[in-house]
Amino acid sequence: MKLKTAKLLLVDDKDIEKEINLPVCNATLGNDAIDVSGVNSEGVFTLDEGFRSTASCKSKITFINGAEGILLHYGYPIDMLANKKCFEEVIFLLLHGELPNEPELNNFKKELSHRANLPTQFDSFFKSFSEDAHPMAMLASSFAALATHYTNLNIDSEEGRKDAILNIIAKVPLLAARCHRHSKGLDYLAPKENYSYAENFLYMMFGEHQIEEINRAMDVILTLHADHSQNASTSTVRLAASSKTNPFAAMAAGIASLWGPSHGGANEAVLKMLNEIADVTNISDFIKGVKDPNSALKLMGFGHRVYKNFDPRANIMREQCHKVLEKLNITDSKKLDIAMELEKIALEDSYFVDRKLYPNIDFYSGIVLESLNIPTTMFTVIFALARTTGWCAQWNELMSEKNLSISRPRQLYTGKTKREI
Ligand code: SDX
Repeated sequence: MKLKTAKLLLVDDKDIEKEINLPVCNATLGNDAIDVSGVNSEGVFTLDEGFRSTASCKSKITFINGAEGILLHYGYPIDMLANKKCFEEVIFLLLHGELPNEPELNNFKKELSHRANLPTQFDSFFKSFSEDAHPMAMLASSFAALATHYTNLNIDSEEGRKDAILNIIAKVPLLAARCHRHSKGLDYLAPKENYSYAENFLYMMFGEHQIEEINRAMDVILTLHADHSQNASTSTVRLAASSKTNPFAAMAAGIASLWGPSHGGANEAVLKMLNEIADVTNISDFIKGVKDPNSALKLMGFGHRVYKNFDPRANIMREQCHKVLEKLNITDSKKLDIAMELEKIALEDSYFVDRKLYPNIDFYSGIVLESLNIPTTMFTVIFALARTTGWCAQWNELMSEKNLSISRPRQLYTGKTKREI
């Protein structure tokens, strides 16, 4: 169904009616949109707390069909990209709208490799953090700190934005790996010229080359987390960037938003939940607690604002989970047993079925990451490492707009009326 026109009928407290014609914007896929930007001239606002029905922008990068569990990046289904392409090809796609040919890919890898370094001051900067500092706090701080080195960015020009983006994407794996090395009191490592993006990140984290299956698993994990249209952290980056601020600073705000357990922090929370359940025999009590209307307990890794069907990424992540555990000969993963039993029960239980709660990307990612010996506190750092590419693509799309204007939502005021002193 394509929307042709939209009318708004306003009826005031004297029952006087006014009909307003609203412009309609047609989508190439998914819901069309009613342009309500002009309704404030009629003396009214629209209210949509949590933006459940509000499109904040027009975008060509990622399409999600929540009802059918579809995720496309410039039209390419996520399972094809995850299974047939490497992360560098996906980064190129998100930034340019097309997959690279071989010369383009080789040149792109070289451009990233030339920028894969950090200012020397960052050695002492990281040492200033306490040993038990949460890696997400270190990542957010160090991302913003890069803005002290990259200030004269000509972000109004395509070339200026391209240079900033290449620097951001090239440097974030070094920041992410350093968060881990600092937490372990280890020296920082420089990337290897001939390693892939995922391979280098794991090398800079662990100090040794990983087996192909582990490098490949990380590559897939980064692809699955790269972009997801206007989620909370991407919307945070877009809102911050709309004031034309430094992109490093805008993405530090994105990291702050992603850290929350309702968003990217859920992967860390899933592992904590599986550890607390500890054994499949405790699952029924746990599910009872989740369903208790007086309890705030949630089945972490389940539910999604958009997906009311399976998150396609969760299916790919589950496959990766089995592949990695098999390759590492981990046959008695209690956590995987608990996760699979939880999924089985939840998919049959009316509480979850009625609310269309299905596993999302975070449900299995933690088990894979833990099997790669990645500390739980680093899980969301890896999500942020991957999502930085999506933030860069979305930031570039925003900054390329001809009539870029600062995002400034309105409010429904419910406070005190005018008072005298
Ligand atoms: C990500 O937006 C994105 O694209 C995000 C993301 C990305 O790639 O950027 O996909 C990544 O953030 C995935 C989501 C990770 N978060 C979690 O796994 C945390 C657990 N999930 C919930 O917190 C919740 O499902 C949200 C935050 C993800 C979505 O919340 P919504 O859309 O606001 O849904 P809701 O709170 O309105 O829930 C509707 C009902 C409520 O019950 P009732 O009031 O109707 O009785 O479902 C219940 C909720 O209590 N519910 C859950 C639940 N999630 C929702 N009940 C138990 N366990 C859950 N996980």
